[in-house]
Amino acid sequence: MVEISASILSMKNENAIQTLYNLETSGIDYFHIDVMDGKFVSNNTTNNMLEYCEYLNSISNLPLDIHLMVEDVKNYISSFLVFEPNIITVHFEAAKNKQELLEWINYIKQNNCRAGISIKPNTDIKQIIPYLPFIHLVLVMTVEPGQGGQKLLQSTIKKIEELHKYITENNIEVDIEADGGINENNVNQIKGAGVNIIVAGTSITSSKNFKEAVTKLK
Ligand code: DX5
Ligand code: ZN
Repeated sequence: MVEISASILSMKNENAIQTLYNLETSGIDYFHIDVMDGKFVSNNTTNNMLEYCEYLNSISNLPLDIHLMVEDVKNYISSFLVFEPNIITVHFEAAKNKQELLEWINYIKQNNCRAGISIKPNTDIKQIIPYLPFIHLVLVMTVEPGQGGQKLLQSTIKKIEELHKYITENNIEVDIEADGGINENNVNQIKGAGVNIIVAGTSITSSKNFKEAVTKLK
């Protein structure tokens, strides 16, 4: 059974508390926190996401799955470690070289948090093969990072298949998470490609019944 990480990016601010409560009780496995700095991507969600994490820490026992789409990665890792998240994922494309990326990964792990690397749709899966022994999760973007409610890019599915084949053949323990444009119509294709965790935002938060939407995805 795949796990569901609900993205709160597209959540309407006016009824945020009610929405978070409805998500909490809908059967999701993680809250997916999309942190954007307005530089790595044009959207800026930093203050909103800090606020939501503060609130979630006070009302929820569900683990936080932090997705950093930022340039100043080290400082953002520090800012979100305070919420004791389960996972912090950084973007491969944000690192200027291999040792910087490994430094971020080690910093996350030294703070008792699982470490993930995310790759954009145009980044080849081969780029992250060298890092697999050091991370817990690969976040394969199935849309261009930056906003919710986009259409899933079919071309990214073979990347998931390629990664799944590689880690199976090489006996590597790493989770594969897919993120962006996933809904009940394409979820089986994504599952079939070999993911363990599915990020879903709009397909849950725009539904009338969150529990039903989550059950359908699972
Ligand atoms: C996009 C984010 C995704 C997005 C998912 O940059 O990383 O997590 O919010 O939302 P949906 O499911 O609406 O595409
Ligand atoms: Zn995300």
